[in-house]
Amino acid sequence: MYSLFMNAEKLLLPAGLKEGDHVLEVGCGPGFFTLPSAEIVGDKGFIYAIDINPFAIRKVEKKIAKAGVKNVKTMIVDVTETTLKDSIIDIAFFFGVIHSLHSIIDRVVLEMHRILKDEGLISIQKSVKFKDGLVDIITQNNKFKFIEEKKRMFVFQKIK
Ligand SMILES: C[S@@+](CC[C@H](N)C(=O)[O-])C[C@H]1O[C@@H](n2cnc3c(N)ncnc32)[C@H](O)[C@@H]1O
Repeated sequence: MYSLFMNAEKLLLPAGLKEGDHVLEVGCGPGFFTLPSAEIVGDKGFIYAIDINPFAIRKVEKKIAKAGVKNVKTMIVDVTETTLKDSIIDIAFFFGVIHSLHSIIDRVVLEMHRILKDEGLISIQKSVKFKDGLVDIITQNNKFKFIEEKKRMFVFQKIK
């Protein structure tokens, strides 16, 4: 378990997660990154783990219950309609999911802009299927600026 956490942290820390953050995990799947994220943000932070697949969410919920973790909320929602309030998220991360969002990326960008706090971040793990042009697509409507690429991730910051 410890080594799993260490491996997850190797991506989550460069993605920008830190103690106290309110985080959106997009397409959490069965939750490989969910508990390590909750550990990083700690008691003062919070994780919203979302997925459109109810089976995936059920698996995450079992993990949360088993670990007794209190700072995670799971939601069966589409990333384009998270139902979250405006400007409450410090960072949204997209691991292993961006290739599924190609056709709806404009709506994803708008929704992330709505729920992120000013200067909030999105971190997107590169996909072989959706790599070229990703920076242009995310930044084209002046909702986000490109910050850096590290550890196979693109990091963007919300423009007010
Ligand atoms: C390959 S899994 C990645 C799981 C996890 N992020 C990881 O890296 O281990 C992609 C997940 O994204 C979810 N997904 C795909 N499109 C989505 C959407 N529009 N909104 C929310 N979740 C979505 C899928 O249901 C799936 O569980």
